[in-house]
Amino acid sequence: MKTLVMEEVSKTFPTGTVALTGVDLIVAAGDFVSVVGPSGCGKSTLLRLAAGLDDVTAGRIQVEATSTSYVFQEPTLLEWRTALANVELVGELRGVPKAERKERAREAFDLVGLTGFEKQFPRQLSGGMRMRVSIARSLVAEPELALFDEPFGALDEITRLRMQTELQRLFQLKAFAGLFITHSIPEAVYLSNRVLVMSGRPGRIVADFNVPWAYPRPPELRYETEFTALTGAVSAALGDHS
Ligand SMILES: Nc1ncnc2c1ncn2[C@@H]1O[C@H](COP(=O)(O)OP(=O)(O)OP(=O)(O)O)[C@@H](O)[C@H]1O
Ligand SMILES: [Mg+2]
Repeated sequence: MKTLVMEEVSKTFPTGTVALTGVDLIVAAGDFVSVVGPSGCGKSTLLRLAAGLDDVTAGRIQVEATSTSYVFQEPTLLEWRTALANVELVGELRGVPKAERKERAREAFDLVGLTGFEKQFPRQLSGGMRMRVSIARSLVAEPELALFDEPFGALDEITRLRMQTELQRLFQLKAFAGLFITHSIPEAVYLSNRVLVMSGRPGRIVADFNVPWAYPRPPELRYETEFTALTGAVSAALGDHS
């Protein structure tokens, strides 16, 4: 089953900026696909189009998912609501009955390892914890397609590695199809079964790498020769087209 299909997608903004040209992309059920590309090449634009937050100029996008989630680079939490109340917000906005939305929020909250921090306000949490709240909030919708725009970009290296392990676990547990934007090539390779490389603006897909390792992947995989060979190949493809 294909969850997301983009065919010959182009996007030109009213300002005249051509952000994307001729993007072909398929995310099938069970896929976790990462996209790497130089800054400003149109990655966020691509994700916004996939989410239906903006319209294509040319081409087609087909989404076959009952629910799509979106995790932004910044956790974008409401400062006046507790951590758990932030996760509950989605159900509230959708009019889910109180008992049910509380239960779902609680489940997602526990899944991301935040048990015990329900009553803390966002400012009382670390950067990694705030991102966990944001991910929990996205899981509440039980997404079949999960979109991530550089969610770990602002985190320190240790937290980032931990969050990668967490996300991989959630991906397996919840079995959503993922489309993940990142600047980090090792992060893309570690998390994904496919890594797509975009050219500089206007962005298009210039390389498509299969990542062979089964999940769950041990953190030590990152230090193995085959892993570094693959990150090297992705890096070379990126260098050729930036
Ligand atoms: N709403 C908009 N109106 C006009 N131009 C835009 C708009 N949004 C993005 N752009 C332009 O489109 C291009 C692609 O932007 P986009 O945010 O998709 O890049 P990106 O690959 O996500 O970059 P980064 O890695 O820095 O996040 C940029 O040149 C940007 O200036
Ligand atoms: Mg971006």
